[in-house]
Amino acid sequence: MRRALVIGNWKMNGSQASNAVFLGELLGRLKASPATDVVLCPPLIYLESFAKRLSGTTVLLGSQNLCAESSDIGAFTGEVSGRMLAECCVRYVLVGHSERRQLYGESDSVVAEKFINAQNVGLIPVLCVGETLEEREAGRTLERIVNQLEFIVKAAGIDAFANAVVAYEPVWAIGTGRTASPEQAQMVHAYIREWFSGLDKAISVNLSLLYGGSVKASNANGLFVMDDIDGALVGGASLDAGEFLKIIGAVK
Ligand code: PGA
Repeated sequence: MRRALVIGNWKMNGSQASNAVFLGELLGRLKASPATDVVLCPPLIYLESFAKRLSGTTVLLGSQNLCAESSDIGAFTGEVSGRMLAECCVRYVLVGHSERRQLYGESDSVVAEKFINAQNVGLIPVLCVGETLEEREAGRTLERIVNQLEFIVKAAGIDAFANAVVAYEPVWAIGTGRTASPEQAQMVHAYIREWFSGLDKAISVNLSLLYGGSVKASNANGLFVMDDIDGALVGGASLDAGEFLKIIGAVK
């Protein structure tokens, strides 16, 4: 079943003190909805304390990253394996985020390894795809998205998408305050769903497609009324509990 999903990607933000305040407010005010999943992806160091605090609540835990190596134990200084994340009650993991691709040189093959490793330990990968401003201006948006998707489908197989989420995040809209218009986002989402439909109709119909890139309370309604937008991957606005709650409340 295609589910609505709002994921908060905290990036490298938070502190012991501010996390406690945020979680107190979020959990105190969140009205659980059986139709919408809410996921928080704090920095790795905070996962364990979030797992304890979120236990018994409806809010799920996600990780911003996992190790690309298939071994779940070994000599990989600074890395954290999917198994370790799963052991810490993590359910979702971001893969292919444009900041990882651009700042840490993660290629499509690294993204594919992470996607596959995540699923091997029962985590749900949230595959991020999106075009740069230059690609958009050159009329290559859809081609870029399909290239990114195709690579993962070839590596992991189409059936893998029965247990995955796709997030369309135009690189030019991330952290810039410049959101894609609901129509621009819907156009790409519809194209992605159509593309999956050509490979497997059931997977396409059930696939949750999130939009990400400067989503805030003030633009969430307009995005969420679109037919193929099933939720959002929220960066900056997920750091403020009140703002995040409004975005969650805007899900149709
Ligand atoms: P933003 O980030 O909402 O701050 O633009 C989105 C993301 O990076 O996933």
